[in-house]
Amino acid sequence: MQLDKTIAVFLGMLAGLSAHGHESSTAAMQEMEGDPQRGKVALQQYACTGCHVIPGVVGANSLVGPPLDRMAKRVYIAGSLPNTPENMIRWLRHPQEIASLSAMPDLGVNERDARDMAAYLYTLD
Ligand code: HEC
Repeated sequence: MQLDKTIAVFLGMLAGLSAHGHESSTAAMQEMEGDPQRGKVALQQYACTGCHVIPGVVGANSLVGPPLDRMAKRVYIAGSLPNTPENMIRWLRHPQEIASLSAMPDLGVNERDARDMAAYLYTLD
């Protein structure tokens, strides 16, 4: 999809910028755990902002879905999944598989972007 490509190029550029002055081991760690700064950009690129209030993300003030403040402290995701990083990534990638009646659509989120967005959401406590 064209949008995916644009996002990939844009995020690639950002990753290149932020790599300056970091040890490569730090970059590898971020790859594993998710990079909240990249995630913050991805939340806008995937238009999560069109449905959610997300503290710290410009334009994220819609009340279509629940506000995502304090996501690090929630016990459940979407009222059904225990709030673990793996479940969060699953939810962001395939909400319709988990809750087919939910208004949250599958947005074609790839694994890395889901990990990065989850990393950002877990900064909200
Ligand atoms: C069309 C509107 C819409 C879009 C776009 C959308 N969501 Fe949602 N989202 C919802 C709704 C509605 C729920 C509540 C789902 C439920 O409880 O079944 C939800 C639930 C969630 C939850 C769980 C919140 C909680 O309180 O448990 C998270 C996290 C989340 N969305 C993140 C995202 C992210 C990240 C994106 C972008 C990749 C996104 N959403 C895009 C509508 C949307």
